[in-house]
Amino acid sequence: MRTRKLIIDTDPGIDDAAAIAILLSDPSLDVKLIASVSGNVGIEHTTNNALKLMTFFNKDIPVAKGAAMPLMRGNIFATNAHGKSGMGGFEFPEPNLELLLKENAVMSEYHTIMALEEKVTILTIGPLTNIALLISTFPEVKEKIEEIIMMGGSTERGNIGVYSEFNVNVDPEAAKIVFRSGIPITMLGLDIGRKARLTAGDLDELDNCGKAGKMISSLFRSYDGGNIEEGVKMYDPSAAMYLLEPELFKVKEAYVDVEICSPLTSGATVVDFDGILNKEKNTTVCIDVNVDKFRENYIKRVREIQC
Ligand code: BDR
Ligand code: CA
Repeated sequence: MRTRKLIIDTDPGIDDAAAIAILLSDPSLDVKLIASVSGNVGIEHTTNNALKLMTFFNKDIPVAKGAAMPLMRGNIFATNAHGKSGMGGFEFPEPNLELLLKENAVMSEYHTIMALEEKVTILTIGPLTNIALLISTFPEVKEKIEEIIMMGGSTERGNIGVYSEFNVNVDPEAAKIVFRSGIPITMLGLDIGRKARLTAGDLDELDNCGKAGKMISSLFRSYDGGNIEEGVKMYDPSAAMYLLEPELFKVKEAYVDVEICSPLTSGATVVDFDGILNKEKNTTVCIDVNVDKFRENYIKRVREIQC
């Protein structure tokens, strides 16, 4: 079986943790690097959380600290959803600091990509600051990136602005650079995470899925506490599941760009399926997910995690 080389660029983040969980032990993947980025919480927290996850899952994957703020704007955090530390709701063991690289995320991503013979897949589940810096500083990496699979944007309405989604809205200039890079991109927007929900019963089932299941369920109970009855939205885990089981998703090609000027819609992804803007399509956009299979297979994957 082919093992796909993977870099995860993330701002953990409760749903980031739930996404990363199912990626670390899958035999089809070889996770080379975890890069942190400022997003849900500040960079010290997201880096520490990435290290905590590696320690919890007993993995010695290196962690590199990334951008402390967006390219042109101030930080916007999502502590309301993820807690002050970013992974509220579960007591993690102290992180193994030896996994933290001396080099920052952009340099580490560059060196990881260039050192590999094969092309690398990048999963982005946070703001796109590191990736924009990487491809602007080292454009030669572009041809060594097989695909960017991104949780970000929306084909409909937003969660932080009327039309803008958190990861893109936090650093819209970075997202614009990435969409315009020419690298193959698959986008899983808010609309997919909103469909792919775990039910209250699913969380109960996760409680019986070993150490990893208990951790994820406990994080999610604190993440979306008030709304568990409506189901927990699986934003970042839907991008992770796409990587593992793309057959569960329906996709459509589109031209995607990011609004960066308008005070009303800054950070909105403009998803042109119909060629209205007369631009070449640059993104594979997920437009639907088999929700029942998604829930079943996500839980099954968590149950199989050994840690
Ligand atoms: C995205 O924003 C963050 O809060 C989540 O971790 C996810 O990556 C959803 O808009
Ligand atoms: Ca995230």
